[in-house]
Amino acid sequence: HLYPPSFQGSSLLRRSNCRAKGGAPGFKVAILGAAGGIGQPLSLLMKMNPLVSVLHLYDVVNSPGVTADVSHMDTGAVVRGFLGAKQLENALTGMDLVIIPAGIPRKPGMTRDDLFKINAGIVQSLCEGIAKCCPGAIVNLISNPVNSTVPIAAEVFKKAGTYDPKRLLGVTTLDVVRANTFVAEVLGIDPREVDVPVVGGHSGVTILPLLSQVKPACSFTSEEIDYLTNRVQNGGTEVVEAKAGAGSATLSMAFAAAKFADACLRGLRGDAGIVECSFVASQVTELPFFATKVRLGRSGAEEIFPLGPLTEYERASLAKAKQELAGSIEKGVSFVCK
Ligand code: NAI
Repeated sequence: HLYPPSFQGSSLLRRSNCRAKGGAPGFKVAILGAAGGIGQPLSLLMKMNPLVSVLHLYDVVNSPGVTADVSHMDTGAVVRGFLGAKQLENALTGMDLVIIPAGIPRKPGMTRDDLFKINAGIVQSLCEGIAKCCPGAIVNLISNPVNSTVPIAAEVFKKAGTYDPKRLLGVTTLDVVRANTFVAEVLGIDPREVDVPVVGGHSGVTILPLLSQVKPACSFTSEEIDYLTNRVQNGGTEVVEAKAGAGSATLSMAFAAAKFADACLRGLRGDAGIVECSFVASQVTELPFFATKVRLGRSGAEEIFPLGPLTEYERASLAKAKQELAGSIEKGVSFVCK
């Protein structure tokens, strides 16, 4: 026990703090819910990201172990761990990007909406911390139901007077990742070559893969369209059932969250042409929030792209999606405004 794991990142025998202060330029990133099924592999992936200089891992349980473990990786980011509500403010102070995978996941038979009761309160309290300690940070919200938790976060930030819609992004990347994979399987090509826009929201019929806009340009039979749309919409349930009570997607979700966070960081750095789908405040439809392609820049979601031309099938699916989304958004808003 001569060299105890450095929970606050201050090993006994470190000669100076110069790496944290004057090391490679990079961004400060916090993960809230870092000890969870998503949080752990996401912590690993963010520690590997060369754009990250400081990585704060916060949870209400087990963050010391995850921090000690990840901090031994010989990559650039300095890792610090934070445990419990009393340490939330320290975890958040100075952060450029906050990623939130905190909250309970689905079990077989549950919808994402069934998670609302518990996760709504968790997201509310974490966002109150963000408003207080790092109001200028970009927020990547993963906790479900995303269709309601993003409106909750917006209301918390409005109340605190810190709301900037460009900086609040619901993470729907897993739907895109799944759509790219399933479309590539059907076409018999490499998924890395495929780009499927997925719009709407992040739950059941609100997940709308726009198969008419797939790149590279291709066409599908109506049977393929039905199969692909259903598989993308139910991809999460496929994993929940296969895990049989042991949780929902964690590894593919961590991959998707890391991909999205990296895009946000490249945008913050000023890279041009960074475009991802995300559930954001939007005027693309009459709903106050909607997922579409957005361009990420120094201030977050700087441009929101329109839906583009839709087929009749997609227009019908959009109508269904909007109906469900409207209720989920309202539920989130009234949770905070009650
Ligand atoms: P998990 O239960 O394995 O981990 C959640 C972690 O959050 C736990 O370590 C728990 O201690 C922590 N936590 C609970 N309350 C907290 C609080 N107040 N502050 C900080 N941490 C807190 O769950 P898992 O599988 O990691 O899923 C997390 C969330 O992500 C769930 O809500 C799930 O539905 C959602 N999810 C979202 C997806 C998306 O595409 N946006 C995809 C898959 C899951």
